[in-house]
Amino acid sequence: MSVTIGTPLQSSAFKVLLLGSGELGKEVVISLQRLGVEVHAADRYDHAPAMQVAHYQYTLNMANPEELKQLIAQVKPHLIVPEIEAIATEVLVEIEASQTATIIPSAKAVYLTMNREGIRRLAAEELGLPTSAYRFADSLESFRAACDDIGYPNFVKPVMSSSGKGQSRVKSFAEVDAAWEYAQTGGRVNQGKVIVESQIDFDFEITLLTVRAKNAETGEIETQYCDPIGHRQDSGDYVESWQPQAMTAVALEEAKRISHKVTTALGGCGIFGVELFVKGDKVWFSEVSPRPHDTGLVTLASQYQSEFELHARAILGLPVNTTRHSIAASTVIYAGVDDTNLSFSGLNLALANPNTDLRLFGKPEGFKRRRMGVATARAETTDQARELAQHAADQVIVNQN
Ligand SMILES: Nc1ncnc2c1ncn2[C@@H]1O[C@H](COP(=O)(O)OP(=O)(O)OP(=O)(O)O)[C@@H](O)[C@H]1O
Ligand SMILES: [Mg+2]
Repeated sequence: MSVTIGTPLQSSAFKVLLLGSGELGKEVVISLQRLGVEVHAADRYDHAPAMQVAHYQYTLNMANPEELKQLIAQVKPHLIVPEIEAIATEVLVEIEASQTATIIPSAKAVYLTMNREGIRRLAAEELGLPTSAYRFADSLESFRAACDDIGYPNFVKPVMSSSGKGQSRVKSFAEVDAAWEYAQTGGRVNQGKVIVESQIDFDFEITLLTVRAKNAETGEIETQYCDPIGHRQDSGDYVESWQPQAMTAVALEEAKRISHKVTTALGGCGIFGVELFVKGDKVWFSEVSPRPHDTGLVTLASQYQSEFELHARAILGLPVNTTRHSIAASTVIYAGVDDTNLSFSGLNLALANPNTDLRLFGKPEGFKRRRMGVATARAETTDQARELAQHAADQVIVNQN
């Protein structure tokens, strides 16, 4: 049975509850709004980006099972779309089992990917995918042993963390104790446990956006891929991305094989951001987001259907088109200051080139390293697109009021 979409704010409404209302969610909401979906957006603070374009907004602690359960009972959504990892996922498992709502893409996917241990063990041990060598540790003593075992340099990450929080690159035994201390401050919940990974000496890293969507005729779920997205990370946070990233045909096939395997195991419909390291023809799985990926913001400029539109369509059971029409790049715009009520000028200059575009997320509060917007650009080559997107981002001036 294919989806029937009713009228928002009336009893026939098709309701989506978004858990997490950041800038990626905001674009998903805009795509859902265009299809006449009634959108409910939740986050831990008021006026989060996606709330500003939703029909209803809720401020709560989504990591608290009671609060989350109550919200779901109140909204009675058809679909629940997690946009962040810090959610009481045991509630989602229950909801899925009772069939009161569909969890996007699946409760299993949300549960396994919120914890680096869950997804790493699935990828490496169950699916046999190539990854960095790794060990887990939950005490300083076992951590020291794990670091010596893996060797140096290595990467240390709290198992429950994202965007580089609590992460460090450990170059020698002398740095081990400090890395442990730092990891203890950066974890989200369940503090203590970390993963130690061997350093992969890659040529470049990519996000392979992978969509699981229903075939319009058969209703079977099929896997489709966007062109690979190259990106540059600074302190575990993406600063620029471009599409396509050139790679060998062998590596691209391997990237698709890995992505197919891991997304099939996670199940459901929607977009996944599969993070991969590439060296020549060799590819390693790093991690996967069961939702749009920040580096995929570039698809707003490069594809007929951005990753957000692809996600919206796929979760509704509708067909998708992953075709790219342009070479493009994206550059992040940071607040640069800790303050609220910021304003942005220089926009005329940022948009002077007709091949550039901007998104300002409307976040109520900025921090030095908080992403407030993104500049995108199209060009003849990825190098030119990167330069143009950087230039556009540089024109944007953040002002305190
Ligand atoms: N084993 C590794 N070898 C080489 N580089 C690594 C390794 N692990 C992480 N990195 C580098 O650090 C970046 C961040 O790591 P990872 O994606 O695991 O963390 P994250 O906190 O989930 O980041 P994000 O939330 O931004 O995706 C990677 O994109 C890569 O550049
Ligand atoms: Mg990552």
